Amino acid sequence: MRTQVAIVGAGPAGLLLSHLLAAEGIESVVLETRSQEYVLARIRAGILEAGSVDVLDRAGLGERLHREGMEHRGIHLQWPGERHHVDFVDLVGRSVWVYGQTEVTKDLVAAREAAGQELVYGIADTAVHDGETERPWVSWTDADGREQRLDADVVVGCDGSFGPSRHAVPDSARETWERVYPYAWLGVLADVAPSTDELIYAWHPEGFALHSMRSHEVSRFYLQVPAGESVDSWSDDRIWESLARRLGEGVDWTLATGPITERSVLPMRSHVASPMRHGRLFLAGDAAHIVPPTGAKGLNLAIRDVALLAPALVSMLRGDHAQADAYSDAALRAVWRATHFSWWMTTMLHTSGDPIDAQLQQSQLRWVASSPAGAAGLAENYCGIAAS
Ligand code: FAD
Ligand code: DHB
Repeated sequence: MRTQVAIVGAGPAGLLLSHLLAAEGIESVVLETRSQEYVLARIRAGILEAGSVDVLDRAGLGERLHREGMEHRGIHLQWPGERHHVDFVDLVGRSVWVYGQTEVTKDLVAAREAAGQELVYGIADTAVHDGETERPWVSWTDADGREQRLDADVVVGCDGSFGPSRHAVPDSARETWERVYPYAWLGVLADVAPSTDELIYAWHPEGFALHSMRSHEVSRFYLQVPAGESVDSWSDDRIWESLARRLGEGVDWTLATGPITERSVLPMRSHVASPMRHGRLFLAGDAAHIVPPTGAKGLNLAIRDVALLAPALVSMLRGDHAQADAYSDAALRAVWRATHFSWWMTTMLHTSGDPIDAQLQQSQLRWVASSPAGAAGLAENYCGIAAS
């Protein structure tokens, strides 16, 4: 098999890249290790920056998002006894959208299938070869156990944090930075109307809690738990009691409860791999960088990378390499801004057990909530900032 762009991974980065390339007449094949059912059911991020919404709109993917998504003008920032609204529209003139990654993925798969995109699911043993040459290729074992090979002009690794593409860049050519946090998130999806108009990010001595949502009928919650925690330690009662305490202490507010439909533990780390290109192998999204989820940057960064990479590859395949040569540096500037913001939100809101941290965090929260300069810094980064 031969194509112009071999894309490894059918997450949001890989699917959106194939879509943007097709709009410019560039052919691609998307290779995915999971089944289509798994990819479509996966529950992950929930917040889109206005810039991400613009990218999806311009790609013709925004119709359901605008019909079913919820535009939010800010967030609530809370600690025991106090809840403050940080109004992004007033502070920086921008908003964000609540629209689940699961829905973004469904829209992308529907659009790619309607256009006849070749999407190969259920593959194993994916390996990227000869990225540094003019003729890179990908090999894998297909769902029937047969060895396959795809030759391409360019290979793009969109295969997330556990995929093989990043490792196809030789260690000698790659620099990585990593921080592993000593806590994790227990994520919970429940069939209950949200008990809040906008998201609540709550600092609490027991640990961070977040009240998010997916629709007017479905709520999404996160609780700080120790790294390595088992979901089995969290009964429904324990989850609801902890959420009610961490999100409600000292404020006049009631949390509505309902059936829990999904629960899982997410480890938290910051990871950046540089450069995001090695010859004709490019990396985009989680394949190149991971942020802890506080601040909802992961999905937005994946969309940002691909919005930069697609036009760069179109020009490169037409003979102009300038944008492709600039891709890694340009993408990494936004990656580091988001990596810093996610670390800042994470360390401001998660308890460490050290009493001095609790004092420093509460002072920082009071400053962010009461100073227009502090609040504008949070708002600007949350809504998506052009990194300089
Ligand atoms: P992914 O979505 O990870 O897609 C990569 C794709 O590559 C997957 O479909 C994978 O199956 C495939 N793949 C992997 N290995 C191979 C292989 N060998 N061959 C072929 N295909 C392969 N971000 C937030 O902002 N908020 C959140 O609440 C949040 N929750 C998350 C929960 C979890 C469990 C995870 C893992 C991430 C979460 N994130 C969250 C991060 C966000 O979802 C990611 O940043 C986003 O999915 C990145 O998109 P991507 O396309 O780069 O990678
Ligand atoms: C969600 C996830 C986040 O990491 C966040 O900061 C806000 C919302 C969510 O999944 O809804």
